[in-house]
This record gives sequence, C-alpha cells and structure tokens, in this order.
Amino acid sequence: MMEDPYRNYAGIYDRLFDSMNKGLKLVGIRMFRPSKGMNILDVGCGTGSHLELYQRYQCNLFGIDLSPSMLEVARERLGDSAQLDLGNATEMQYEDDKFDLVISMLSLHEMSPDTRSTVLNEIKRVLKSDGRLLLIDFHPGPYKPMKGWISKTIIFFSELVAGRKHFKNYRQFMATGGLATLLSQNQMDIEKQSILAGGTFAVCLVFEDN
Ligand SMILES: C[S@@+](CC[C@H](N)C(=O)[O-])C[C@H]1O[C@@H](n2cnc3c(N)ncnc32)[C@H](O)[C@@H]1O
Repeated sequence: MMEDPYRNYAGIYDRLFDSMNKGLKLVGIRMFRPSKGMNILDVGCGTGSHLELYQRYQCNLFGIDLSPSMLEVARERLGDSAQLDLGNATEMQYEDDKFDLVISMLSLHEMSPDTRSTVLNEIKRVLKSDGRLLLIDFHPGPYKPMKGWISKTIIFFSELVAGRKHFKNYRQFMATGGLATLLSQNQMDIEKQSILAGGTFAVCLVFEDN
C-alpha cells in the first residue's frame, strides 16, 4: 500500500490552516461565483473545507484526493453532499467535459514537475470547453514588509516539516515562478489574478488557451 504523507496531520490540518486559508478561498469564490446546478471538482480536496464553502450554491460537488486520512476527515465534514473519491489526479475517473469549475488549493506545489503537467492535462480533459480552473497556491513574491516576510517564513517552515520530497517540489515550484510559469508552460491563460498575504499567495482564475 502507498504511504500516506498526511497520516499524522489530517486530524490537525484544519486547526493549523483553516482560519489562515479561508480568506483566500473567499477571494476565489468572488472571482468565479458558482451558479445552481454546476458541476464542481476539487482536485486535492484534502479535508473538504474548500468544498464546504461551495455547499450553499446548490452545485454538484466532487472531490478527489490521494490521502485516505484527509478524505476521511472530508467525508465526516461533507457527508453525502459531495462525491469524494480516493485517487490520483494524474488519472481521474471522470468523463470528458464534465465540470464547469475545477478548484485546487495548495496541491500543485507539492507535486513533482511531471505530475503537475499530467494533472493539468487531466483537468483540461474533464473541464467543459467554457469551464474555468481556480487555483490557489504559494506565490514567489516580491514580498511586502512585514506581512509578506512573516507569511513567507511560516510557509517555509511548514513546507520544511512536510517531508523531503514535498519540500523539494515546493522549492522547485517557487524557483521556477509558481503558477504563472506552470500555466504558461501548459497552454493555460490567467483571466483574473489576486496576489495576497504580502505577496505569498496567488489566487488565479484560469482558462484553456485553445
Ligand atoms: C496541502 S493539502 C491542501 C488540501 C486542500 N486543498 C486545502 O487547501 O485545504 C494538499 C492535498 O493535495 C493532495 N494531493 C497531492 N497530490 C495529489 C495527487 N496527485 N492527486 C490527488 N491529490 C493529491 C494531498 O493528499 C493533500 O490532501
């Protein structure tokens, strides 16, 4: 069986990060306001706290995650209001052109460069042609004093304790320009963007460049 890097963190993940991350998620919802009946997929849904914010819009909610322990927390939180699937986002079970919106927060930076591109291709496949991708992830600055410096320091140490592979992928993601570079390498365009928390986070609404 594959190792679950979140086994020891799933139970405390929300206590550590939920209040810090909620404001970023709300910025994302303002960028793309869901309408009733839309199909929405959260890639790397973790404990389900992001999908929970979409419950009020009466959409069809789906989440996929590699970590059984994170998904267990998500299942307790969301019950049957979302379809939650254990799986790798490199190879998703969903049919082509299914989703109006795919969201993904803090998942891409921890993947290897090859995995990121494969996952973006899978996201393109499952998105409708006029669908949108909402990404929230770390931003490589410039950082504003003092807020940005403090936030950057907290991020750096939380990535450091997340394990060697995770930290290596995070460093590569930051050194190569974060979401902006990744998206342009994968023929995706940013329609709207907010840089927040003193330059340490980016919220991007993205569409496929056909
Ligand atoms: C830092 S957590 C973020 C969780 C959630 N998106 C949030 O913002 O609270 C990253 C999540 O991405 C998941 N993940 C990483 N690589 C994945 C992959 N290839 N397929 C599916 N999930 C993945 C991890 O298991 C983890 O739950």
